[in-house]
Amino acid sequence: MNTVNMSFPGKVTVGMGCASQWIDFCKNKDCKKVLVLSTDPIWDAIKPQLDAAAEAKLKVKTLQYAWPGEPTTEYFNTLHKEAERFGPDAVVGVGGGSVLDIAKLLAALSGRRTAIEDCFGNGKLQPRKAVLVCLPTTAGTGSEVSPNAILLDAKDGEKKGIISPYLLPDATIVDAELTMTLPAKITAETGMDALCHCVEAYMNVNANPVVDTFALRGIVLIYKNLLKAVKDGRNRPAREAMAIASMMGGLCLGPVNTCGVHALSYGLAGKYHLPHGLANALLLPAVMEFNKPKAAARFSEISRALGLETTDDSVCNAEACIDAIGGLSAACGIPQHLAEVGVKEEDIPEMADMAMNVTRLLVNNPREITREDAIAIYRAVY
Ligand SMILES: [Fe+2]
Repeated sequence: MNTVNMSFPGKVTVGMGCASQWIDFCKNKDCKKVLVLSTDPIWDAIKPQLDAAAEAKLKVKTLQYAWPGEPTTEYFNTLHKEAERFGPDAVVGVGGGSVLDIAKLLAALSGRRTAIEDCFGNGKLQPRKAVLVCLPTTAGTGSEVSPNAILLDAKDGEKKGIISPYLLPDATIVDAELTMTLPAKITAETGMDALCHCVEAYMNVNANPVVDTFALRGIVLIYKNLLKAVKDGRNRPAREAMAIASMMGGLCLGPVNTCGVHALSYGLAGKYHLPHGLANALLLPAVMEFNKPKAAARFSEISRALGLETTDDSVCNAEACIDAIGGLSAACGIPQHLAEVGVKEEDIPEMADMAMNVTRLLVNNPREITREDAIAIYRAVY
């Protein structure tokens, strides 16, 4: 059995309508100055909470996150300067994966002069001084429970990861109520990202039975609920199931992490700035197909968990699994070909070069992916 190290947020609260618990949490931690980072669409939902926080004698500064696409180091630095002028002792992120990643980094670098560019990689952050609370408003990235944050390096345009135990929140508050107004397209894309986290953890060379529990349960919840949430955003049980599945996917990221799908999606995101979930969704069935010779037994187990018709032939069962996952993606309205999202075929070799740089994820893949393999996978999806 592989050895894994699992770290969790200090506290995880899950339940419909629990969002305002960040106020008591900050008060109980004796915080006085709270920076809330959020986005416009969720503002109506958190405004009453901000009033309640003020009544609870918390000095709150709100920062509006407003950046199209993946956040860059430059944008982070702009927000960091503003945050430091306020000098918070707590940072509360309310938003999707990018907002939470930035909130995590703002908390980690609060009161420190460290340049963000020096933090890329594993274990480069110093202990965090500020309290960190994360409230996800999408169901997908799992950032609310992961020790990871991703930024686009403005210097070379590449997506880079920052991994540190000091990025794990002190409190994660998962309130699916905050996801109820999420548009269908974002619901579909972020939900497929969560599915990738779970499937990539399950087919990972570092897979571990403890992490498998989260991964497999997450896959089943997403398979049964994503389409419902896409078709009817007010479907509360489906939204709740997706919020929990997203968290389960996030719990796989720290100990096991993703593999071939996310590695190849870096090429797509780096060249075309496609939304993260969309890039992953496009690649998931093709990477599973590539991995089938090494992961058929694992995919067969997923087929059984999903209740698909299975036989004694693990390859047949694996094919059923890949078909089912591709079918879910298509049913959710996600494009199935790179050409549909504006990718040019002649850019595929450059995308493969970018993907080859993501060695920290490529090494997790159950089957080695060479540059030629990456090109073939992109072409298979083209
Ligand atoms: Fe992801």
